[in-house]
Amino acid sequence: MKKLILFFLVLLFNIQYCHAGKFENLALTPPMGWNSWNTFEVNINEKLIMETADILVSSGMKEAGYEYVVVDDGWEAMERDKMGNLIPDPQKFPSGMKALGDYIHSKGLKFGIHNCAGTKTCNGFPGARGYEYQDARTYASWGVDYLKHDWCSTTNISAREAYATMSNALRAAGRPVVFSLCEWGTDKPWEWAKDIAHLWRTTGDITDCYDCQEVYSLGFLQILAMQEGLEKYAGPGHWNDPDMLEVGNPGLTVSESRSHFSLWCILAAPLMAGNDLRSMTDETLAILTNRELIAINQDALGKQGYKMIEHPGKEIWVKELSSGDWAVCLFNPTGQPSKMRIKWPQFWVLDSKTEYEVRDIWPQKDLGTTQTKNDFFVTIEPHDVIVYRLNKTQKDDHETEKK
Ligand code: GAL
Repeated sequence: MKKLILFFLVLLFNIQYCHAGKFENLALTPPMGWNSWNTFEVNINEKLIMETADILVSSGMKEAGYEYVVVDDGWEAMERDKMGNLIPDPQKFPSGMKALGDYIHSKGLKFGIHNCAGTKTCNGFPGARGYEYQDARTYASWGVDYLKHDWCSTTNISAREAYATMSNALRAAGRPVVFSLCEWGTDKPWEWAKDIAHLWRTTGDITDCYDCQEVYSLGFLQILAMQEGLEKYAGPGHWNDPDMLEVGNPGLTVSESRSHFSLWCILAAPLMAGNDLRSMTDETLAILTNRELIAINQDALGKQGYKMIEHPGKEIWVKELSSGDWAVCLFNPTGQPSKMRIKWPQFWVLDSKTEYEVRDIWPQKDLGTTQTKNDFFVTIEPHDVIVYRLNKTQKDDHETEKK
C-alpha cells in the first residue's frame, strides 16, 4: 500500500513539475514584431492582421527583424464554446485562428495572441483562469508562437502562481511559445518571472503622448523614468518590457518618435511596433527600420542600458555591447535646445586607454575616433536625441576569433 501511495505521489509530482519552466533558447534577443493594441484596441479583424503581415514583408520591416504579429485583446467571442474551448469572434475572424496563423507563417512571420490570467480580459472576453492547460493546447493547435498574458479580473489571485500555471501549461502543450507577462509591474515580476517568462511589462499602459500621466496610461517620459534600476534584471531570454512602441502614432512628433525608438533600443526593450502600417509615413518607416539602432537593441550580449548621468536638459544613457563596444544616447527631454560638451577621454564607462571609432547613428556619419576627435560641443534639439556607437578599434584576440 505504502509503495502504491509513493508511486502516486511521484506521478503527481511529475505531472505538476516535469514540464515546469519556460521554453529555453527563445527570445535570446528582445522580441521584435507588431501588436494591434496601441492603434486599434478591440477594433481588429483578420483582414487588418493579414494586411499588416503583408506590409511587414513588403516594407522591409521583416528583413529588419520584425517577426511576431501579435493579435491583442478583442479577437475572442464573448463566451467559450460548449466544451470550454476559446473561440474567435466569428464576425471579426470568420476563417478562424488556425487559418490566420497559417497565413502569418506563410509570410515567414510568427503568430502571437493575447489573453489574460484572470477570469476575463480587460475588455470582458473569456480569460484563462481555470482553463490554462486547455487554452495552451488550443494555442498549440493554432500554431501560436507568442502569448501576451494580461492581468485583469484577478482579484485574490497570486501573480506568481497564475503565471507559473500558464507557463507550465504552455510547456505541457509542447509548442515553443514566447511567454510575455502583462502584469503592469504591480508585483515586481522582474524579481520572480525570469524562469517562467521571456519578458514582463514593467509599467501600466503606454499612450502616444510625450509627457503625460493619466490613471491608466502613461506618456513616454513617465515610462522611461520607471525603467531606471531595472537593468540588472534583463538578459538573453528574459527582458524588461516598457510596453509597445508608439513610434509614428499621432500624439508624438518625429523627434519624439526618434527619441522613443532610440531609448527603447538602449533599454534592450522588446520592439513591438504599434502603429497602423497601412498608412505609415516614410519617416516612421525609416525610424522603425534603422538598422544600426536595431543592432544596438539586438546586441547578443543582451545588456539593458541605463542612465549614466543627468543635468537639466541633458541625459546620457549608455548600453554596453559585445566586444567592448558601447552605445551612447544623448537625450534632451526639455522644450529648449541644449548644448553639451563631450570629452571622450573622461567619459565614465569607456576605457581611457582604448581607442574607439565614433559613429553618429541618425545622420549616418563617422566622426573619427575618441582620440582624433576627443573634445567637442553638440546641440541636442528639444525632445530629441543624438546616438553614438563607439566601436573598439582593437578587439582582443579572443573577441576577434569569436567573430
Ligand atoms: C492592458 C494591457 C494593454 C492591452 C490591454 C487590452 O492591460 O496593458 O497592453 O493588452 O490590456 O485590453
